[in-house]
Amino acid sequence: MNKYFKTPLFVSIDLSNRCNLNCIHCRNNKTKITELNYNKIIELIKELENLEIFHLSFSGGEPFLHPEIYDILEYAQKLNFPKITITTNCVFIDRLKISKLDRTKIRFAISLDGPKDIHNLIRGKDVFDNVKENISYLVADKFYIMLNCTLMKQNYKYFDDIIKIGKELKVNQINFSKVFPVHPVIKQFMLTKEDLNELYDKYKHYSDEKDIVLFFDKGYIGFPDDYDKDISIYMGCRAGISQVNIMSDGSVIGCKLLPQICAGSIYKNDIKTIWENNDNWKIFRNMKDTVNNKICNDCKYFEACKGGCRAIAYYVTGNISSRDPFCPL
Ligand SMILES: C[S@@+](CC[C@H](N)C(=O)[O-])C[C@H]1O[C@@H](n2cnc3c(N)ncnc32)[C@H](O)[C@@H]1O
Ligand code: SF4
Ligand code: SF4
Repeated sequence: MNKYFKTPLFVSIDLSNRCNLNCIHCRNNKTKITELNYNKIIELIKELENLEIFHLSFSGGEPFLHPEIYDILEYAQKLNFPKITITTNCVFIDRLKISKLDRTKIRFAISLDGPKDIHNLIRGKDVFDNVKENISYLVADKFYIMLNCTLMKQNYKYFDDIIKIGKELKVNQINFSKVFPVHPVIKQFMLTKEDLNELYDKYKHYSDEKDIVLFFDKGYIGFPDDYDKDISIYMGCRAGISQVNIMSDGSVIGCKLLPQICAGSIYKNDIKTIWENNDNWKIFRNMKDTVNNKICNDCKYFEACKGGCRAIAYYVTGNISSRDPFCPL
């Protein structure tokens, strides 16, 4: 079994799966609308504080569509979470209510997928100007702002433009990650390994940037030959090792891209009980059994890499045991 943390470090709560947009790549399934109610969310947040979770995140759907979102944030910011993030498309924000939030506690992760036409194309609606204006407002109001950009065929040629927009807006950080083909139609939007390598080279040109933090999630952190086994807990997939996601229907999962692998429900058990039962997490905690293909099985880096990402392997090959197609070897 892989090492895992005694309690999760990162917990994300999808407050609701309702959304005002219909992005072409979205993982959020809106076929049946589900929403966590205020009392259940408060009960959860209290439990997560007791578990000494390091990073609490709110997402969705669109979290700002939850009717009690500001009460939830005001409650969470009073507790002892070192880090609270709200992930949003930033179309709806109530400036008066936002201004009451604690800037030292609450950070925004705002989706921005490209310059105006590209963002609007991906987001399925003409929202770019509105989002840009809201971002400027939040920056001026001294919040820590991250832009989340999901890279795909539609926007990867605009990599430099996205950084330029982020710098003009004076945001603190931009996080780049790749699209996951959670529906067959998204497969045609996916970047190849070569596209990603090309972007990574571009990203490296920005290594001297002082005014903005840039993250590029390539999937792999590299394979040191002599890594310290004690830090292997920080390497590879985080699902069920340090990370939990609570979905708007109450299901508890390791990875948002693999909601089919469900570890339990908040309507049946508390998070501690679900976390402590290894059977609930066996797919993620026993990667040696889950990852079953000749190349990984014989690979000298397996203990560090743990087979890479099961979600991308599953969506690309249809088999959760197969090799991560982005493996650099
Ligand atoms: C599901 S949205 C929820 C929060 C909010 N509605 C938003 O758009 O930021 C969270 C993030 O997941 C990203 N996302 C959605 N589907 C994805 C997929 N198939 N692959 C990778 N990222 C995805 C979105 O682009 C967004 O940045
Ligand atoms: S705004 Fe967010 S949740 Fe809504 S469709 Fe787009 S990515 Fe999905
Ligand atoms: S399966 Fe992939 S996307 Fe999901 S948590 Fe693991 S590494 Fe991340």
